[in-house]
Amino acid sequence: MQSEVLSYLESNKDRYLSEVKDFLAIQSVSSQTIHNADIRRCAEWTAGQMRTIGMNNVRIMDTAGHPVVYSEWLGAPGKPTILLYGHYDVQPVDPINLWTSPPFEGTVRDGNLYARGSSDDKGQVFIHLKAVEACMKSIGSLPINIKMLIEGEEEVGSANLDKFVNEQKDLLKADLVVISDSSMFAKGVPSVCYGLRGLAYMEVELTGPNSDLHSGSFGGSVHNPIQALSEMIASLHDKDGKITVKGFYDDVRTLTKAERNAYKKLPWSDKKYAKQLGLKQLYGEKGFTTLERLWARPTLECNGIWGGYTGEGAKTVLPAKVSAKISMRLVPDQSSAKAAKLFEQHMKRIAPKTVSIKVTALHGGEPAITPINSPGVQAAVVALEKGFGKKPLYQREGGSIPIVVQFKNILGLDTVLLGFGLPDENAHAPNEFINLDNFFGGMRTCVHFYDELPNFWRSSKKSRNK
Ligand code: BES
Ligand code: ZN
Repeated sequence: MQSEVLSYLESNKDRYLSEVKDFLAIQSVSSQTIHNADIRRCAEWTAGQMRTIGMNNVRIMDTAGHPVVYSEWLGAPGKPTILLYGHYDVQPVDPINLWTSPPFEGTVRDGNLYARGSSDDKGQVFIHLKAVEACMKSIGSLPINIKMLIEGEEEVGSANLDKFVNEQKDLLKADLVVISDSSMFAKGVPSVCYGLRGLAYMEVELTGPNSDLHSGSFGGSVHNPIQALSEMIASLHDKDGKITVKGFYDDVRTLTKAERNAYKKLPWSDKKYAKQLGLKQLYGEKGFTTLERLWARPTLECNGIWGGYTGEGAKTVLPAKVSAKISMRLVPDQSSAKAAKLFEQHMKRIAPKTVSIKVTALHGGEPAITPINSPGVQAAVVALEKGFGKKPLYQREGGSIPIVVQFKNILGLDTVLLGFGLPDENAHAPNEFINLDNFFGGMRTCVHFYDELPNFWRSSKKSRNK
């Protein structure tokens, strides 16, 4: 039966490419209110696709923010039900002048499809839509039951999704969650991801004098808030790259020897990595390898800092205010609320008396480790090998998908992270792309995954009952 599905995929590649370009053309930037109508249009496009491919009970469900698109196909009684999660919203495109082709015009160059959202995450959502379509249109059914939950606020912290999932527990009942919103280890090296970092995102504002001041008349007598904040931020890492926020490492789970050894066996080169990033030298916490720093160690980054005069030419001014956005990536067993609290206390403690300080927590999410011996992951391993012709590796990721932990907490479900992106696909940056081998390999893998899952589910049920 699979050969019919796979040959359907094969013979519809051109159409898929043109359809995904329609999806990518919708400017569904969730953080910018000017795009609210585009977000709605994108939800409608997603719902329309779901109807076309044969999903039932397709619904656009309102939240306090952007809508969630839901649908289901439950025609395989007795077979497992997956809850497929993804997002149709995208990051802003600035700086737009650095894009080689327009961000909302899908363009193929060198075997890659360029556009905002091509990899994160519309392209990967589309992979599943078309894998489902191929099954439905060639053999008229799916080997498993599927519920789809595609949201529009992932890139801005999924503020309304916890409530939605809590309110829709019955609708979302399933056996496991599947998410394709992460990367494979490298091109030609498929992988299953089993860990994501959490996040605590903060904003800090320092106020000095009650007005901007002439830097000649007042400079020398007043602590410039930009200087004060720079001094504070510079002190947040010590000379070994360790974060100095008091108590920050208290709950960090130590890497096991086995995991460190497993990382060492992965095909990785610091030299190549630095070269790819245009760096002469890498940076990070002393005592850890790059992969450990990326996947299993917490970090603190200044994402942006602003204040004073940044316009054309020169203006002599001693600014009244300065602000920065600072985020912390978290690992098991840290909690984002605790990290936010520790950060706030620390910043208030180190703020000099010359300024007043305001610290705000913007959003957060918990780190996740998913079990690798679960039937879902074992089915994914077989599916990836069939889809890409190579046994997958196990890896963690540095990014965050906060809903993963909430699916466990609210619905009791484990997640399989079946990512088809690549680490260098410029997610959140200019010239985002998805590699077309992965795009179509991803569709094949999904078809195999749907097909394999019942086998593993059955055998795991049996062994559980023993
Ligand atoms: N697709 C990413 C998550 C991701 C990135 C997974 C890299 C694995 C590797 C997702 O869309 C994303 O960017 N998430 C945000 C979450 C935040 C807004 C709460 C992130 O990680 O910054
Ligand atoms: Zn994403």
